[in-house]
Amino acid sequence: MRRSPDPIQQTLAEAMVSSSLPLLLLLLLTPGVASAAPADGCPTRCGDVDIPYPFGIGPECSFDAGFALTCNETLKKPFFYNIEVHNFSLADGQARMISDLSWQCYNSSDKTLRALQWSMNLINSPYRFSDVHNKFLVIGCNTLAYIKGSENTNGYTAYTSGCRSQCSDKADLNDDSCSGIGCCQTSVPKDYNYYEIQFEQNLSISGFPELNPCSFAGLVEANSFKFQKSFILTDELKDNGSAPFVLDWAIGNQTCEEAKLKKTSYACISENSVCVDSANGPGYLCNCSIGYQGNPYLREPHGCRDIDECVTNNPCSGGSACHNLPGTYNCLCPPGEHHDDYSNRCMPKEELPLAAKVAIGASSSLAFVLLCSMCICLLYERRKLIKARKRYFREHGGRLLLEEIRGREGHALFKIFTSEELEKATNKYDKNRILGQGGYGTVYKGILEDSRVVAIKKPKSIDDSQNKEFGKEMIILSQINHKNIVKLLGCCLEVQVPMLVYEFVPNRTLYHLIHENNNTSLVPLDTRLRIAYESADALAYLHSSASPPIIHGDVKTSNILLGEDYTAKVSDFGASKLVPKDEDQFATLVQGTCGYLDPEYLLTCQLTEKSDVYSFGVVLLELLTSKKAVYFEGAQEERSLASSFILAMKENRLLEVLDVQVKNEGDAELIQEISQLAKQCLSISGEERPTMKQVADELDQLRKYKQHPWIPSNPEEIENLLGEPLDDHGMYTSTSISSTAGKRMALDIESGR
Ligand SMILES: *[C@@H]1O[C@H](CO)[C@@H](O)[C@H](O)[C@H]1NC(C)=O
Ligand SMILES: *[C@@H]1O[C@H](CO)[C@@H](O)[C@H](O)[C@H]1NC(C)=O
Ligand SMILES: *[C@@H]1O[C@H](CO)[C@@H](O)[C@H](O)[C@H]1NC(C)=O
Ligand SMILES: *[C@@H]1O[C@H](CO)[C@@H](O)[C@H](O)[C@H]1NC(C)=O
Ligand SMILES: *[C@@H]1O[C@H](CO)[C@@H](O)[C@H](O)[C@H]1NC(C)=O
Ligand SMILES: *[C@@H]1O[C@H](CO)[C@@H](O)[C@H](O)[C@H]1NC(C)=O
Ligand SMILES: *[C@@H]1O[C@H](CO)[C@@H](O)[C@H](O)[C@H]1NC(C)=O
Repeated sequence: MRRSPDPIQQTLAEAMVSSSLPLLLLLLLTPGVASAAPADGCPTRCGDVDIPYPFGIGPECSFDAGFALTCNETLKKPFFYNIEVHNFSLADGQARMISDLSWQCYNSSDKTLRALQWSMNLINSPYRFSDVHNKFLVIGCNTLAYIKGSENTNGYTAYTSGCRSQCSDKADLNDDSCSGIGCCQTSVPKDYNYYEIQFEQNLSISGFPELNPCSFAGLVEANSFKFQKSFILTDELKDNGSAPFVLDWAIGNQTCEEAKLKKTSYACISENSVCVDSANGPGYLCNCSIGYQGNPYLREPHGCRDIDECVTNNPCSGGSACHNLPGTYNCLCPPGEHHDDYSNRCMPKEELPLAAKVAIGASSSLAFVLLCSMCICLLYERRKLIKARKRYFREHGGRLLLEEIRGREGHALFKIFTSEELEKATNKYDKNRILGQGGYGTVYKGILEDSRVVAIKKPKSIDDSQNKEFGKEMIILSQINHKNIVKLLGCCLEVQVPMLVYEFVPNRTLYHLIHENNNTSLVPLDTRLRIAYESADALAYLHSSASPPIIHGDVKTSNILLGEDYTAKVSDFGASKLVPKDEDQFATLVQGTCGYLDPEYLLTCQLTEKSDVYSFGVVLLELLTSKKAVYFEGAQEERSLASSFILAMKENRLLEVLDVQVKNEGDAELIQEISQLAKQCLSISGEERPTMKQVADELDQLRKYKQHPWIPSNPEEIENLLGEPLDDHGMYTSTSISSTAGKRMALDIESGR
């Protein structure tokens, strides 16, 4: 698969299928010297497209050679080599470009197949294909096409994915629907900057060439490409089919920390800018600090400028006047009043009418004096309480959080609760409402005013150092949105220890399901595999969603809750924290559970994503054996599930330790595969463990294999399957096949040729 680098080639001629692939682009960038700023007089537009620095027309106007574009004066459009550029976004580090679709057409008069199959090579450029926005799209009737990628930044890793589209009748085609009939789409992995597209030829020949002589395929932005049935019924896409696709870009191949050390080439030179590690591949991006906007890659006065919040979206209400400050703003109130951050309005300053009360008291009866002093005490206490609430709110970063939430779209999803609201929801922390209790604190069932049922977590205590970070952490956790992660609905900051409000998950935990359910045998292998896959997928999401990644830190069966239909919901970010930067921070954080704790962590004192992988390995074992992570065997002897399982595997007595149900249901090969996966997760060295994403993908494959054991598991079988015309039952199907090189279900179709 690996191609030797050719010079830039632009063979666009129609090719017989047997001929080689034309290359859309092949880049051989020599690492250029990064220029800290563009030269004077550099154009900032080409046609209708803004070209913000670090991009530029020509190398002297751009950050380095990878960011240099050309402007075609006749077309009035910018190009990156021969790829047309649609637009750039500095804030998300994205670029939209336009690529041509690959096609394959069958000529029934001379019975030949002609094809134009594109490949695109962005190796050594700042660009990589966005896995979030792009989909591999295949259009046609009875068409199977592959996309192959290789050479990502982690070294040589190849992947092949395919998508198959079918249709037998024109009447079945629907505009805007890309779901297997006439059009099929599949996702692509992160961190790839090379792909090539290939059609499976035999399938097209054996198909229905009269209905649609041409098929198309391409990597395109899924949201902007709308399938039309005319694509199939006419050949309008041929020679004229192009579509936007999205690229993520980043500066260099270093992290922010590494790049900051190199003062000369560090790109975030605006004073009010911050550096953000790229979420897709190596490198970093610059961003304006909160409260600023502009171009973080330029020095003042062209860099990040203060946003005048008072003009853009006057954030002050309730009688207060807005006053802009660098990076922030102040809400000012008339004399005698002060601004209350929480309600965002001016409040009268509460002056205690002490002197008045005393005067009245002196002239009244003793009883009245007593009554008055009681009033004063109450008032004083109340004032103290309000003050304390405000202090806690401030200390826990409430203001930052409020600003962030107000600025966010759909901010209704995350709410800052008052302590009264939570008191009411839990019926004053009624004992009958307790869902769970532990070293961390107590979880109550709460019913909100809109009759939503929630779980309210009231921790026992919080570390002072964590205190200040709390608001910031909430900002990140509140953005986590995954169907297999317990959703954080809000928090309450105006108490000494902040409380968290989560969605309510009805079916207790995986621990209960496996260990405290008398009908364990009723948990089918399918369900076990699905729960394992969903949990792995959720953890993979956590590891990839934020930068720095979120590490769960306490993965165990009792932290995997079960929702309706036993959907897994990973919970308890009590221990989860952003990756700590130094050991000090780290020391406060260890909260893992015996039997699940990464052994490497004990040596290095460093919690990594791979620590979660280890703990997840133990969860897998529990699913397979229905034994606890640390269990008693016979004579009160404590045993670690991880070590006894690995010993059993080594001594070939796997069957002895497995759960009866699992043994009965799973075939030996499947069980062997899952055990192997668990064993890899439990590798002593973190490096040898797969990533959570790989674990999730593998489990997904195994799960599908369990459901459809006929999916062939070696290349020859695949070839045979694809070579045969489909029978009538297979008419309206679409299949996507994914594989990673080196994996068991590898689909290296080239090896068969
Ligand atoms: C990073 O980029 C520099 C120059 O652009 C290159 O010399 C170096 O080999 C790259 N490092 C890695 C790990 O790719
Ligand atoms: C601009 O585009 C036109 C049309 O594709 C092409 O003929 C011309 O050579 C291009 N000019 C440059 C300078 O690349
Ligand atoms: C780029 O183009 C897309 C599609 O036309 C549009 O949705 C997006 O807002 C544009 N982005 C910028 C930064 O102009
Ligand atoms: C840059 O900041 C903006 C506004 O605060 C935010 O929307 C965007 O996601 C940030 N970009 C990155 C790459 O973090
Ligand atoms: C099909 O092949 C014939 C014979 O080579 C040729 O004359 C004709 O133009 C072809 N049709 C198409 C649509 O390419
Ligand atoms: C290409 O497609 C566009 C819109 O889909 C259409 O307006 C144009 O006429 C087509 N050009 C050719 C040469 O078919
Ligand atoms: C495709 O057909 C050719 C000729 O009929 C045959 O040699 C080849 O093995 C087939 N390929 C596949 C993948 O079935």
